[in-house]
Amino acid sequence: MTMQEMPSQAAYPPSAEMSARAHVDATGYAEMYATSINDPEAFWGKEGLRLEWMTPYTKVKNTSFEPGNIDIRWFEDGTLNVAANCIDRHLETRGDQTAIIWEPDDPTKEDAKHITYRELHGSVCKMANVLKDLGVSKGDRVIIYLPMIPEAAYAMLACARIGAIHSIVFAGFSPDALGARINGCGAKVVITADFAPRGGRETPLKANTDAALAQCEDDVKCLVVKRTGSETAWTERDYDYNALSEQASADCTAEEMNAEDPLFILYTSGSTGQPKGVVHTTGGYLVYASMTHEYVFDYHDGDIFWCTADVGWVTGHSYIVYGPLANGATTIMFEGVPTYPDAGRFWEVCAKHKVNQFYTAPTAIRALMGAGNEWVTKHDLSDLRILGSVGEPINPEAWNWYHEVVGQGRCPIVDTFWQTETGGHMLTPLPGATTLKPGAAQQPFFGVKPVVLEPTSGEVIEGKGIEGVLCIGDSWPGQMRTVWGDHERFEKTYFSDYKGYYFSGDGCRVDEDGDFWITGRVDDVINVSGHRMGTAEVESALVAHAKVAESAVVGYPHDVKGQGIYAYVTLMNGEEPSDALRKELEVWVRTEIGPIAKPDLIQWAPGLPKTRSGKIMRRILRKIAEDDFGALGDTSTLADPSVVDDLIANRMNRK
Ligand code: WTA
Repeated sequence: MTMQEMPSQAAYPPSAEMSARAHVDATGYAEMYATSINDPEAFWGKEGLRLEWMTPYTKVKNTSFEPGNIDIRWFEDGTLNVAANCIDRHLETRGDQTAIIWEPDDPTKEDAKHITYRELHGSVCKMANVLKDLGVSKGDRVIIYLPMIPEAAYAMLACARIGAIHSIVFAGFSPDALGARINGCGAKVVITADFAPRGGRETPLKANTDAALAQCEDDVKCLVVKRTGSETAWTERDYDYNALSEQASADCTAEEMNAEDPLFILYTSGSTGQPKGVVHTTGGYLVYASMTHEYVFDYHDGDIFWCTADVGWVTGHSYIVYGPLANGATTIMFEGVPTYPDAGRFWEVCAKHKVNQFYTAPTAIRALMGAGNEWVTKHDLSDLRILGSVGEPINPEAWNWYHEVVGQGRCPIVDTFWQTETGGHMLTPLPGATTLKPGAAQQPFFGVKPVVLEPTSGEVIEGKGIEGVLCIGDSWPGQMRTVWGDHERFEKTYFSDYKGYYFSGDGCRVDEDGDFWITGRVDDVINVSGHRMGTAEVESALVAHAKVAESAVVGYPHDVKGQGIYAYVTLMNGEEPSDALRKELEVWVRTEIGPIAKPDLIQWAPGLPKTRSGKIMRRILRKIAEDDFGALGDTSTLADPSVVDDLIANRMNRK
């Protein structure tokens, strides 16, 4: 029996002190939640006022999950500008307050930088003017492929300021992945840097961008930020950001945007095909990012907030940049990794900047847990008040270590379940309201209506002590609006399996107290070190190799990464398996997608288990990868059941 299944699991009620100072206590949560569900118009109509609007909205919610008419609009007649909300409106009251603390990769070589709201305003306006000079205007797309440096935030906010739509590509992605995204959204400009230092190593971002741009139209421009100053190639399409911004004006009018104008596109993996461009819009997204940041982290004025994510992922969008800055917070941008220069880096940074809220992924916690408690305890963590977890289920062991050793038993952990598609937190504890259970995502955030369905029949399962697939019954302001350029795919992916609902792709359990536990993806999406990956993407990279005939990729449990990547590979006739070829395939996938997609295990498969109609039975492959082939279930529908014996005999993950 796992800890999650134990009937009398540990539970941690909020301390009286925490409840007293928090924005909401348990009673407050119940009341506010009820209003948010019973009268969304009134609830969100009021919540929308946390932003500054150029034209106030008169309509709040206009949304439909009806098959054939998936249409989501919030605050649809209001106008505003996201950059003005994240910067300008704070200038009068907090112009000299630090907006961003930038913490470099290598603290022995460089100091942290403190950027005030006033300085942020100047830098964002300059970047906005540089982009305008490059021909970028409202509605144009800009790709951002940068290290975690302040310029990444400037670039996001500069786009928002002039109404351009940004699409950030994580700096760990390969040139091919970058090229596909530049073409996918038809970007006019790519903003990159010479190199990206990370963990003491440097990724050649500019060279990667050059390779990517070789696959794109000639008129795509490249704006290059100097990070390390090391030499790079220079072509006609390149523009020097540092030189241009020096001459640019530090004033730039914020464009008036409709609430439903796109703010950004973020490519994310699904269960089929290539990554899709998730589109988030201006008004609803910012209301939701701001509100969740305030309530879930119990953020109060003057707090120092640190989310360790990269801005290449949605977590970085909502909880490094947009949510915190909308709330006038001081937010930390961390360029490095948890274990460089040593395993105490996170805690050293927490102590140095007196961090109050710390938000990271379970994979980092598991890795640091193994390094020993002394890395944590030697730093003064007395300013920490709230801890957060995101990206994958957190196992109780990691939860307990985080709670006891990092939080010294004092700090509530908010285990936030959400997705690129949802814009912000969906299920989460609230620090002053929720009795915490290690590993549970617990309760819906305001306005979120979780519905559990029986996976095959699609029937709603009500009550407590139940399990099924997690859907959401009605729209919330942070919801994605469409897939870039493919509204049909949006409907097909999220609204067609279970009509009338948004389908998350995750399974869940509701315990006897009504608390939600995420049980993991029910589709072919895997979660490797908190990075979301479609098995189909890795498969298509593998079969693009000349020696590979066929491949099937599944996830398997991995102690640190959460899930590892297990690839079954069938070679072309006449090709011989070898360790050298295995290495070659690993390198191949790294260059096709990026290091995060490198298979952990590759098994040579003379054949794959297929039904007579040719469909690969992934359930069987998952079981074998888990080293749990005792209960393979029904294999009688396989075209050739004998392939299974070979796969079992040669399995790679023996316990
Ligand atoms: C998983 C990251 C359990 C889930 C914000 C979801 C989680 C996918 C949690 C989205 C959590 C995220 N507990 N599972 N607290 N948070 N997930 O789009 O499977 O990168 O569907 O967004 O991560 O990943 P994405």
